[in-house]
Amino acid sequence: MVHRHVAITLLVLACACCAWAESYVGPQKCMACHNSPDIGDQYGAWSSSKHARAYDVLSSSKAASVAKSVGVSDPLKDKRCLTCHTTAYDVAAANKGGVTPDQGVSCEACHGPGAAYTSVHMRDYKGGLAAGMVSLRSRADAERVCRRCHGGPNKGIRSPHSKAFKGEKYFVKIAHPRPRKAK
Ligand code: HEC
Ligand code: HEC
Ligand code: HEC
Ligand code: HEC
Repeated sequence: MVHRHVAITLLVLACACCAWAESYVGPQKCMACHNSPDIGDQYGAWSSSKHARAYDVLSSSKAASVAKSVGVSDPLKDKRCLTCHTTAYDVAAANKGGVTPDQGVSCEACHGPGAAYTSVHMRDYKGGLAAGMVSLRSRADAERVCRRCHGGPNKGIRSPHSKAFKGEKYFVKIAHPRPRKAK
């Protein structure tokens, strides 16, 4: 029993530290459970949000003029745009899972790389956090995540067109809550 306990502790530590915890699965994996009305259809809410189109917007004429202003020739290929307009841009291909650029800013850009917590978080929230899930339950924690891209700089890359982050108004726009259980 003691040995088992130690083994589990080591496993949890290993998962929190090793590269596995940095591995992504992609939004289709989350969709498998998070697309039903019973759970709140977070996938549906996200797919109709601007975040799901964050890559597409890089082919607009507005994007072309933003790009030109900072000397970027192809926004669809340039790190100076993709860092904020896609998910897991600088992650090794082997760890990207089902993440592709055209999905834009997807679940794991905010919730953290999911490979390690996907099978844990639904029955053990703290275990999920230990496996790399990002705590977003408090506004303070969540807003830190938003501000990585909204205002930047993200990984040292500044936004060429920064609008101010509009606090609560922005949270309302991306809301995807679970249904409140009847008591
Ligand atoms: C195998 C099914 C399954 C998969 C796959 C899955 N989830 Fe979940 N998730 C759940 C269930 C079930 C809950 C708990 C719902 C409840 O308690 O009402 C949950 C809860 C959550 C919560 C709420 C955590 C909290 O308690 O505050 C978040 C956030 C979340 N999932 C994100 C994700 C993300 C992101 C992915 C993909 C990387 C994902 N989930 C993949 C089933 C799944
Ligand atoms: C530091 C993060 C960051 C970087 C880098 C970045 N963007 Fe953005 N971009 C954002 C955010 C956040 C928004 C959403 C703006 C808002 O509503 O606050 C956005 C919105 C946009 C829009 C839509 C604007 C609109 O008004 O509809 C375009 C077009 C755009 N970005 C182009 C680019 C291009 C081109 C590059 C590269 C030269 C780039 N972005 C680099 C974060 C970034
Ligand atoms: C990985 C970078 C990234 C993160 C993290 C991020 N965003 Fe965004 N967000 C963007 C980009 C890029 C756009 C522009 C997409 C477009 O115009 O199609 C955007 C657009 C938006 C919009 C639409 C604005 C409009 O003009 O309607 C809202 C609202 C928003 N984000 C809220 C949030 C909130 C709230 C958080 C934190 C919980 C957050 N974002 C985290 C990159 C990000
Ligand atoms: C732009 C950042 C962002 C993206 C993208 C995003 N989420 Fe969230 N998510 C949040 C924030 C912030 C919260 C906490 C909101 C709150 O508690 O008011 C949250 C909460 C949740 C919850 C818990 C809701 C509740 O009421 O407890 C689930 C489940 C969830 N997200 C799943 C997903 C899934 C699945 C995806 C992709 C299909 C996704 N999220 C995409 C930022 C994001």
